[in-house]
Amino acid sequence: MTEKPTTLSGREQDLQLPHEERVKLWGHRRYVGGGDPETWYGIGRRQYHFLVSRGLTHASRFLDVACGSLRLGQYLIPMLDAGNYFGLEGEEALVQAGLEHELLFTVAQAKQPRFAFNYAFDLSTCPGYDYAIAQSLFTHLTLEDIGRCFTAMRPVAAPGSQFFFTFFEGEEAHNPEGESHANRNWRYRFETLKAVAEAAGFDCTYIGDWGHERGQMMAVATPAG
Ligand SMILES: C[S@@+](CC[C@H](N)C(=O)[O-])C[C@H]1O[C@@H](n2cnc3c(N)ncnc32)[C@H](O)[C@@H]1O
Repeated sequence: MTEKPTTLSGREQDLQLPHEERVKLWGHRRYVGGGDPETWYGIGRRQYHFLVSRGLTHASRFLDVACGSLRLGQYLIPMLDAGNYFGLEGEEALVQAGLEHELLFTVAQAKQPRFAFNYAFDLSTCPGYDYAIAQSLFTHLTLEDIGRCFTAMRPVAAPGSQFFFTFFEGEEAHNPEGESHANRNWRYRFETLKAVAEAAGFDCTYIGDWGHERGQMMAVATPAG
């Protein structure tokens, strides 16, 4: 019996490429899942309006966890006081593209956003946050990496701060095997994420449907005690 040749689809082939090459090939918007205006501007505006509705002001210190190509930053950086936006991102090329193409005029110079580039959740240069969001990060992470993220965030969480995070809600049985991957999807039950957040010193509350264009749910983690 002849075996069927295993062929990779174009997308699967692209996923084998190093991150930086994929950013160049796909473009900085598509890489973060914002290739069309609905998901680029829509999810950016949704995060922005959501945070303001939750009390974020120009004086808040903000941490954008996995800030990507500044889909949120394009709105938040102009609004926040200078120095109050901090972005953590694994892929530096995404942020550079965002600064170059998504922030207009002299906004970047005037508002002095700060960044850390690493995949290890090293937040040692982050001065602390009042509000934070991880939009479509936990959708790409194993539970172990989600735990690392919460653990790294706890020391920089100001008293009363709010860390919002999105996730695909569902049973975990069919999650991908292996390591976290920026372009593969993981699903979790809220109770699973809550337990991981609590182990790192957070209380965790379900928010649920916030109208996300791709069906991601929302929750919030606040420092415990
Ligand atoms: C779907 S994109 C979302 C980006 C951004 N939050 C937004 O709303 O456009 C996921 C991002 O997470 C970044 N990322 C994945 N794992 C990371 C890690 N361990 N540390 C920092 N960034 C990470 C990817 O490079 C990518 O920019």
